[in-house]
Amino acid sequence: MRIFFLDQSGKPGGAELCLIDIAKPYRDNALIGLFADGPFRILLQQNNIPVEVLATQAIQVRKESSLVQGLKSLGQLAPLIIKVIKKAREYDLIYANTQKALVVGALASFFSRRPLVYHLHDILSTEHFSQTNLRIAINLANRFASLVIANSEASKTAFMQAGGRRDIIEVVYNGFDPKNYQTDEFDINLLRQKLELQGKFVVGHFSRLAPWKGQHILIDALAKCPQEVTAILVGDALFGEQDYVKQLHQQVAELGLENRVKFLGFRSDIPQLMATCDLVAHTSTAPEPFGRVIVEAMLCGKPIVAAKAGGVMELVEHGFNGFLVTPGEPQELAQAITTCLQETEITATIADNARTTASRRFDVAIINQQIAQLLSQIMSA
Ligand code: UDP
Ligand code: GLC
Repeated sequence: MRIFFLDQSGKPGGAELCLIDIAKPYRDNALIGLFADGPFRILLQQNNIPVEVLATQAIQVRKESSLVQGLKSLGQLAPLIIKVIKKAREYDLIYANTQKALVVGALASFFSRRPLVYHLHDILSTEHFSQTNLRIAINLANRFASLVIANSEASKTAFMQAGGRRDIIEVVYNGFDPKNYQTDEFDINLLRQKLELQGKFVVGHFSRLAPWKGQHILIDALAKCPQEVTAILVGDALFGEQDYVKQLHQQVAELGLENRVKFLGFRSDIPQLMATCDLVAHTSTAPEPFGRVIVEAMLCGKPIVAAKAGGVMELVEHGFNGFLVTPGEPQELAQAITTCLQETEITATIADNARTTASRRFDVAIINQQIAQLLSQIMSA
């Protein structure tokens, strides 16, 4: 099957990292078209997945944009749309992985008469998007997509609540290769030394720096934890959240936590860094659509404390394979961290349960089979 994948981003967010695993089995006959250049292109090339940057100018419309801003950007999109329509004719199917890719992909699907699949990585609610963007996404998906793949039941429910068609949507979780999360103890000890983490109880936070990812909640919680609790914040502002980054540094200084919080920036050695942690915290203040970092922590055998909302509730069963806390509540988070620090035996059992169940439930080979089956159903329809 020849697949033309579309993604708006040149940066490797969760949706893009998920796309690498989805596109890999098709790479001999596929192309990923990006609407911006960046490190994601290089990652695709390293994985031998054909990639082409289709737009040289950044698309101005954002998650919270109005209709007028959206319409203005359509003019700007014209050359890109024409290019995509032409290329689409060389493929059997168009696979849109992001919302702007859906807009372009829908038009290309119509003009090139190729079926459209939309991979929905978002919770389409007003907590995350403007009304206009919601309406555009739902209408385009309803009208043009043969299939919508939701990354969780939570994303599927939000899609239907916003008016999306029930008969076109299926849930497929992100897949992971458990082998990638095995690490070498000697290397991890070296990394711990390098990061000056020996003798500390290390809480890791792995996410791009953005207000709704809630790094500020972890910093507040840290101030309420015993002195030996230290945090590493792994990730960078990918989508222009520079003010938030400044705010986080200020917060650390105001709370006098300079020695207990390390900002490590964007890293590509996530399994190794997770392995240096005693606990991984997820602190999103708005419902997380899926939450790759949660599954990754489980695969690394690390206990996870996560914010109870959205897709997270499908991943974590409190007290069995992790801990759930109320989103946006530093006091409760501090309590959960302190419990993990003190109750080492129970916490280790929970982390073990998580590793065993996650490696079965999110095995990339099984997830890819599910996708292959859905795609072949479309092609035969
Ligand atoms: N990640 C990474 N380097 C970093 C921070 C995060 O590679 O410095 C990865 C992380 O391991 C995860 C992804 O980025 O696979 C983030 O996906 P998630 O679903 O957790 O959140 P998103 O950012 O997509 O909303
Ligand atoms: C999006 C979501 C995240 C999800 C990822 C992969 O970036 O924000 O929750 O894990 O896509 O589906």
